[in-house]
Amino acid sequence: MKAAVITRYGSPDVVRILDTPKPTPAADEVLIRVHAATVNRTDCGELRAHPFFTRVFYGLRRPKRRIFGLDFAGQVESVGARALAFKPGDRVFGMCPSRSNGAQAEYVCVPERVMAAMPTGARFDEAVLCEGAFYANAVLRKINLKHGHTILIYGASGAIGTAMVQLAKSSGAAVTAVVATQHLELVKSLGAHRAIDYTTEDFTRIGETFDFVVDAVGKTSFFRCRRLLKTGATFAATDLGPWGQNLALAMWSSMTRSKRVVLPAPRRINGFIVFLKSRMEAGEFRAIIDRKYPLAAIADAYRYVETGQKAGIVVIDVAALDERAHLA
Ligand SMILES: NC(=O)c1ccc[n+]([C@@H]2O[C@H](COP(=O)([O-])OP(=O)(O)OC[C@H]3O[C@@H](n4cnc5c(N)ncnc54)[C@H](OP(=O)(O)O)[C@@H]3O)[C@@H](O)[C@H]2O)c1
Repeated sequence: MKAAVITRYGSPDVVRILDTPKPTPAADEVLIRVHAATVNRTDCGELRAHPFFTRVFYGLRRPKRRIFGLDFAGQVESVGARALAFKPGDRVFGMCPSRSNGAQAEYVCVPERVMAAMPTGARFDEAVLCEGAFYANAVLRKINLKHGHTILIYGASGAIGTAMVQLAKSSGAAVTAVVATQHLELVKSLGAHRAIDYTTEDFTRIGETFDFVVDAVGKTSFFRCRRLLKTGATFAATDLGPWGQNLALAMWSSMTRSKRVVLPAPRRINGFIVFLKSRMEAGEFRAIIDRKYPLAAIADAYRYVETGQKAGIVVIDVAALDERAHLA
């Protein structure tokens, strides 16, 4: 099969399209013919092993796995002996475990617990949205967002941000989203009650306070957002923040039981894909697709995602591989 193979850390130049053996599913796994995958910020971090300490997880000298890519959507090709939930031909989507080979390839093997049947009526490229939603959901679960709460989401235009706006809205919270000018209409269309343009207005001086403030993109800080928090309110982040301060603040909050700063780290995918499918089928969650690239041009997708300017997701159209390779 063709796959985007990464054998050493570096820039997107190290990503190569190579022929590699088609994987065989273990007893509890399913072999999927990938139609769509993504490149996201997690892949970019793994590519460069950034921050440096992540080498402890990714591999000290070189990546432990050779194929990246967390989100997948495609069709079941075959199933392992103990995988009973799906059959060949089923249309499925989900999220690969981060320790084994990923979906930036024509085929991937995944345990059946990390996937679900495709949401009714969705195309494959509309279903590769699990990773951003997974992190967004972890934050909202951790803060226990409920109907009637108020939440300000900073950096609401990225994969995590667009997912968080939709999931927060579907929890019944009043959402204020902070984005650049070109994304104001997008976040309103996703359900934000109010959209603030961080390029023309100081979002910390809008004269309102919130139950929760979330930095969804790692570009602000607790200290900057402090005046936006009600008494006893929580600041949450998806990123370590400047000089890793969110980690230190979250540890301090945990030790003092103040819940002032939290840095949620999601663990188990189990059950989450089925939950997301239900939100999509209820019309409360959809993919925001910024760009699409064929697998042959995946290095360009990495370059674009590394700019930190994508809105929503960047899709790899794996099914277009043969066609585009032919055109090239
Ligand atoms: N907790 C975890 O395990 C985990 C997992 C994945 C990712 N992350 C981290 O979470 C963060 C978000 O990930 P993501 O995938 O959602 O990112 P992303 O999709 O790359 O987000 C990019 C978006 O952020 C906006 N943005 C850039 N600079 C901004 C600024 N100064 N203020 C407000 N918005 C800004 C960009 O639009 P404009 O430039 O037009 O404003 C763009 O729409 C990243 O820092 C990533 O490292 C954490």
